Amino acid sequence: MVVDKWFYPGVATANASYRFLASGRRAVTLVITLILVGAVLLTRTQTVVSGKRYYDLVVNGVLASPPAVPVINTDYPPNYDWLRQWEHDLPQHNFSLPAPEGKTGRYVKFSSQTQMLGWNNVLGVVLMDAHLAHESGRAYVFQDYIWEPAHYPWTKKDEYDWPPKTPLSALLAGPAAGGLWEPDDDTPRSISSEWFDVVCPRSERRFIPTSEVKQHVGWSEGDVMFDTWVSVLREAPESCIEVTTSPEDSFPQVFDLWLWGNTRLLSMWERFSSSPTSRLLATSPIVKSGVDKNEYLFLPKGPRPPHPASHNPYERMLAMHLRRGDYEGACKHFSLYSSTFYGWNQLEFLPDRFAVPPGEYGPERDAVYMGRCLPTFEDVIKKVRLARTEYLQGTGKTLDVMYLLTNEKGTWLDQLREALRVEGWSTIRTSRDLTWDSAEQKELSMAVDMDIARQAAVFVGNGWSSFSSNIVHRRLVDGKKPMSTRFF
Ligand SMILES: *[C@@H]1O[C@H](CO)[C@@H](O)[C@H](O)[C@H]1NC(C)=O
Ligand SMILES: [Mg+2]
Repeated sequence: MVVDKWFYPGVATANASYRFLASGRRAVTLVITLILVGAVLLTRTQTVVSGKRYYDLVVNGVLASPPAVPVINTDYPPNYDWLRQWEHDLPQHNFSLPAPEGKTGRYVKFSSQTQMLGWNNVLGVVLMDAHLAHESGRAYVFQDYIWEPAHYPWTKKDEYDWPPKTPLSALLAGPAAGGLWEPDDDTPRSISSEWFDVVCPRSERRFIPTSEVKQHVGWSEGDVMFDTWVSVLREAPESCIEVTTSPEDSFPQVFDLWLWGNTRLLSMWERFSSSPTSRLLATSPIVKSGVDKNEYLFLPKGPRPPHPASHNPYERMLAMHLRRGDYEGACKHFSLYSSTFYGWNQLEFLPDRFAVPPGEYGPERDAVYMGRCLPTFEDVIKKVRLARTEYLQGTGKTLDVMYLLTNEKGTWLDQLREALRVEGWSTIRTSRDLTWDSAEQKELSMAVDMDIARQAAVFVGNGWSSFSSNIVHRRLVDGKKPMSTRFF
């Protein structure tokens, strides 16, 4: 069983320390005393030093030596043992609970879920699968996020698990990761895939390959597909269902790329956005700590603003997703295949919609795609002006904090910063300015970026990006006005 390792960790540790105490109690007491004395001496020394530092700062206006930067080792990936233990200990992992949880509960695992892709492709599917499980009256089985190794912030070493995995509850909080549903909601709580192996041994599972359902509804409207799956999962008498990939299906997710890249998805919006899966979705504590750690960066630095301005830096912020570098090839590809915007970026009530240009593939179509997908310097400045002016007209509120979510570096970015400063943006920060307190925060930096963009007064996204689509989802569920969510 996969869970063995976790069954008695507390007992093992207690035994080990007990044996240690019994064999050398005196030596231990001596060591502890020495440590305590050392700690007291050290504290006193530091007080004196920092007292002197404060004096230097006040009287001389400078510190005698530069302030010490606390040393945090972010050269190694985090160890999530503590969080895995927390997931292991979730109260719904209990045989004795009454149905629909416990031994006779109802469960569905989507092993068809996307893996080893960018986090945002996975996130969209996780939330939709969790919503489907909820509507089917079954517990959603959540799984670790398995990285596309190229996106992982650390390079492969023998001592790391590979491909790297991150517990879902590091990336998000809410019912999809095991959190509570609303008080009057009897839907069973989500369980870990580790517990699924315990409560639903393979011999007791019914396996449903995605093709079994999709062959009937593969190209229907999103809501028709969704309802078909709901009735299959609801009506099945089996407690334990695993939805699997099938070789006949080249995109073997329940909600696949053909749906995310098509307006058929949009018939799902009304129900999905108002669902408890969406409404109770929350930023994880680790991601929140990464956002808070960096909030000083966003406190406005400029002159007193001419219009009424909020004390909350996010209410003065325009966040802009500037995906460049690797995106040049991607944009060409979108043009070649006449790709629409991705996912929720297609919602018809959002401004700045995109219509696929009619006619044959050629340089003219490429130019249309490049203008929207890989905006030039001038395109960026123009869009920023427009978004700021229209926001001011609509709300009377000032925007003067700029956050650039970007993989770009070098002179292009430096010049853009300078041009934006001339445009009156007094506080300009980029993804590269963020710093980390922990390896966990560093690992989840993409989720930290997303959460900043979620909170920003105005967001300018890239319509073809799943990262932008997930930000659009959170912003609209939070109640932000459609006009505040824009695209190049
Ligand atoms: C498991 O559930 C039963 C029934 O609700 C409860 O009495 C018991 O305390 C639970 N066990 C744990 C370890 O929480
Ligand atoms: Mg799926």
